[in-house]
Amino acid sequence: MSAPLIVRLGDRSYPIHIGSGLLSRTDLLAPAIAGRQVMIVTNETIAPLYFDKVRAALSGYACEAVILPDGEQYKTMDTLMRIFDALIGGRFERRSTLVALGGGVIGDITGFAAACYQRGVPFIQIPTTLLAQVDSSVGGKTGINHPLGKNMIGAFHQPRCVIIDTDTLTTLPDRELRAGIAEVVKYGLIRDAELFAWLEAHLDEVLARRPAALAYVIERSCRNKAEVVAADEREKGIRAILNLGHTFGHAIEAGLGFGEWLHGEAVAAGICVAADLSMRLGKLGPADCARAIALIERAGLPARLPRQLTAERLLDLMAVDKKVQGGRLRLILLDAIGAARISDDFDAAKLKQSLAACREVA
Ligand SMILES: NC(=O)c1ccc[n+]([C@@H]2O[C@H](COP(=O)([O-])OP(=O)(O)OC[C@H]3O[C@@H](n4cnc5c(N)ncnc54)[C@H](O)[C@@H]3O)[C@@H](O)[C@H]2O)c1
Ligand SMILES: [Zn+2]
Repeated sequence: MSAPLIVRLGDRSYPIHIGSGLLSRTDLLAPAIAGRQVMIVTNETIAPLYFDKVRAALSGYACEAVILPDGEQYKTMDTLMRIFDALIGGRFERRSTLVALGGGVIGDITGFAAACYQRGVPFIQIPTTLLAQVDSSVGGKTGINHPLGKNMIGAFHQPRCVIIDTDTLTTLPDRELRAGIAEVVKYGLIRDAELFAWLEAHLDEVLARRPAALAYVIERSCRNKAEVVAADEREKGIRAILNLGHTFGHAIEAGLGFGEWLHGEAVAAGICVAADLSMRLGKLGPADCARAIALIERAGLPARLPRQLTAERLLDLMAVDKKVQGGRLRLILLDAIGAARISDDFDAAKLKQSLAACREVA
């Protein structure tokens, strides 16, 4: 393990530790824990794999656990209430700490519980999916879904530290590994052309889970995310570029029903639509657009919108997105590989053309 990355946010700064064997490192957990009471939040899939290790590392604390059902469809108010039931039932005080052990669903919901419980308690992120390790565990966006819209209820609440044990990726299903790669491709496209080119050359090593390749993409992705978040914690401006493909992706997730397509899969298709639209608007060259789509396809991710969703339906779903401002849809568009722009001033007819052109064929 090398020196931790730091997310620089003044007195809310925190470290991201990346390495092998970190789940049992009490020394990394301890500085981030307030009080003696610790609530580990995880799910039925992850608990049998990793709970004991983390529990053992916390043996010096009064430690309890909530084991939630597994799936995006459980990122809801009801599930959130189960965490509050355990906290209040267990007499958890204001000086207590939540630990999110799992993928992005557990991280988002636990972070939101920590933001709300007694108006805010500290929490620690221990992400166990590639997607959570490269993206969702860093940056302090927390929340739950509403049936009408993805992540519509939430808060900004930064973790006290992020502990990424790369060994956890050995048990991750292949489909989930690929979903995580979508967010890595995103960083390459929005601000890191070198990472994009590296992925083109080394994708097979990532898919084969070569430890050095995984460590590289995680480190590089976290560095990108930490820089953007430090520049604009509350998404007043530049942070929005991290949403490349997400307005389309969230519409797919909500439109098909949460859990049908994985978040990373929906984002992958969304990135392809954003690239296609950027090309139609004369911003992104056709060769670069083709490179973006080719990399998504090589990663085994969907490059097209699901057939079930028409352009009209998608536009309707996109209208509830958080990026809508003053009734105008804002999209992240590409000027080149490695350069993104936020735009609410684009030809709506071209958007419709892209939505139609990028739909799956029968
Ligand atoms: N807060 C943010 O900034 C942010 C950013 C990106 C995504 N997200 C959110 O993250 C969520 C997606 O996260 P995800 O892709 O991690 O999905 P997930 O949390 O549903 O995890 C994917 C699956 O892998 C299982 N799993 C997790 N770790 C495992 C391991 N080590 N071995 C075996 N199985 C394991 C989980 O139980 C689940 O079944 C979405 O809700 C998305 O909105 C949030
Ligand atoms: Zn995402």
